[in-house]
Formats: sequence, C-alpha cells, structure tokens
Amino acid sequence: MKYFLDSAKIDEIREAYDTFGIDGVTTNPKHIMDSGKPFYTVIGELAEFVKEKGIGGWEKFPVSVEINPHLDDADEMVAMGETIAAMSPNFVIKIPCTQAGITAARRLEKKGVRTNLTLVFSPSQAIIAAKNNSLFVSPFIGWKENSGEDCVKYINDIVKIYGNYGFLGKTQIICAAVRNGKQVVDCAVAGADIVTAGLQVFKDSFYHPFTDYGLAKFQSAWDNTVTEE
Ligand code: E4P
Repeated sequence: MKYFLDSAKIDEIREAYDTFGIDGVTTNPKHIMDSGKPFYTVIGELAEFVKEKGIGGWEKFPVSVEINPHLDDADEMVAMGETIAAMSPNFVIKIPCTQAGITAARRLEKKGVRTNLTLVFSPSQAIIAAKNNSLFVSPFIGWKENSGEDCVKYINDIVKIYGNYGFLGKTQIICAAVRNGKQVVDCAVAGADIVTAGLQVFKDSFYHPFTDYGLAKFQSAWDNTVTEE
C-alpha cells in the first residue's frame, strides 16, 4: 500500500518524505489556503521539491494539484489542467466528480495529462472515474464516517467492482480524508492502492503505548544488568 501526504506545506512534505518515504502528495484548495501562500507559489515549490529529490515524473512521485473549484465548464477545466500539468511532469490534475469534471478528465487523459477524480462519495462515481481512464480516483472516507456512514463496505465495494472489470491498478484507488490508523488498516485490508492523510495521522498510526512501556522495561533491564569486571 502506498502512503500519500495530504498537504500543501513544503516543510511537512519534506519531513514525511525524509522520515517515512511517502510515495506521493495530494493537495486541495484548503491545503493551499492553509499553507498561507498563493496557489502558483505553492505548486512552484512542489515542482522544485521533486527536482531537488530526483523523483521527477508522476510515475515516481505523483503530486495531485486541484484546479480552481469555481470552474464549471469543461473547456476551462481542461485549459487550467494543461497549464498546471505543464509546470511539472509530476503533476496530476485533480478534478471534481461532476459532469463537467468527468468530461474534462476524459479529455485531459486523452491528451496524456493524468487526472485524479476527487470528491467521490459513492461506488458509482468510482466506476465513472475508471471508465474514463483517470489515473486516480479519490473516495473520501473521513467525511462519510463523520456523518455515520459505513466506509468499510464502501471501500470493499469499490475494490470488488474494480476487480470485476479489470480496473484495478489502471485507475488507482486513493482512500482520501483518512483520519486514523483504523481507517488506514480498513483500506489496506480492502486492498485499496493508496491512503492519503495528514502528517499527524501517519505519526499516530505507528504509535502504540506498549512500545513505550516495553522500551521502559528494556531500559531498566539494561541499567540493571551486571557489568564487566
Ligand atoms: C483528498 O485528496 C483530499 O485532499 C482530502 O483528503 C480532503 O479531506 P480533508 O482536507 O478533510 O482531510
């Protein structure tokens, strides 16, 4: 399973890459706003980061960048997608799963610009992403679980459908808005390709209090071991 960092903060991305070896990055307009920098400045930094690390190309380290969410015309979406894609070979264009967005994603894929269909909340939306050859589909987990929906079945259904029709691997499933280690594991058990989450989610997911408890025991044993004469 791949881990993507859901962030537009370059210091967080650097830490997650250097410490955990994350496999890619996803951004959205909210993450860009939270970075405190203008849109094109942030994505310029992301383009520089992949160059500096020698991980050029979406095959090595995909960075999803979302188009202006106000666009509702496929021509305008395609134009903005092409402008962003021209800035780095790592950029994958994130587009909402609306009718105009699906049309734009289909056209971008035909032109060789890779896409990520986002704001996906149902298996039937995920089918459309795969039928139109998007590189990624982003079913959101956290938002649905917050409103009491069962996300285990949701992700299992998407993986099963993709398996039924040969979509697996062709359109990779990014479980998005993942909030905790349980959701990471649910997505892994279902066989999703990727989870994308904030830095703290990944940090929390490998924390276990028994590790600290055991470490304290072993430190005490070390300190009380007889020493050489
Ligand atoms: C997915 O690609 C989105 O960027 C993301 O997961 C959205 O959710 P959040 O900002 O609520 O975590």
